Amino acid sequence: MDNGKLAAAKQALDYMPNQGVIGLGSGSTASIFIELLSQKVQAEQLDIMCVATSTQSQKLGAQLGLNVVDIDEVDRIDITVDGADEVDPDLNGIKGGGAALLFEKIVALNSNRNIWVVDPSKEHKRLGQFKLPIEVIKFGSHHLYRHFEKLGLSPSYRQTNGEYLLTDSNNYIIDVDVSGVDDLTALATQLDQLTGVVEHGLFLNICDELIVGGQ
Ligand code: A5P
Repeated sequence: MDNGKLAAAKQALDYMPNQGVIGLGSGSTASIFIELLSQKVQAEQLDIMCVATSTQSQKLGAQLGLNVVDIDEVDRIDITVDGADEVDPDLNGIKGGGAALLFEKIVALNSNRNIWVVDPSKEHKRLGQFKLPIEVIKFGSHHLYRHFEKLGLSPSYRQTNGEYLLTDSNNYIIDVDVSGVDDLTALATQLDQLTGVVEHGLFLNICDELIVGGQ
């Protein structure tokens, strides 16, 4: 297990209340956190409900004995702990490497506090080394693909075993290169307005606290 990821996930446990609703992130670091949280909840008999950001996290949490409920069964999420693919000094980030960006953003935007747990490799002065995932509906997605090409974003469909990858909501992911984009806030606004784009992995002004785990 990666020591940095483990250290960050461990540290996030300190933020857990005795009672409340916790958002479970997705990816390898969030999975470590889910495992540690289940141990803590059991050992300390905490009154914790959880909502998940992906089918994978939902399954993992339930398997480990956490009380994972549907997001619509709770009014508000107290704290969400999630990973990130890249994060800059202003705590803006790119997420969606695990294709879970849509549920991750919905959970994050309904959380009182968002904590990201990462290893040092995720820290970058400027976002864009990691390809930005854009979740699009299947219908007409080739037109969006060509639009991204025209914008100079070098798009590529995310694939698995030679097939287009399908997200938890049955959509495609188009990964684009934003390393040459100066104004990512403007790009986020542009993507928010594009019909057929369901969500994108630019998480701007969402993370409240970043935990970087050292070795
Ligand atoms: C999932 O879609 C992503 O946003 C993850 O949170 C991100 O990829 C971080 O994953 P790792 O913790 O596995 O690096």
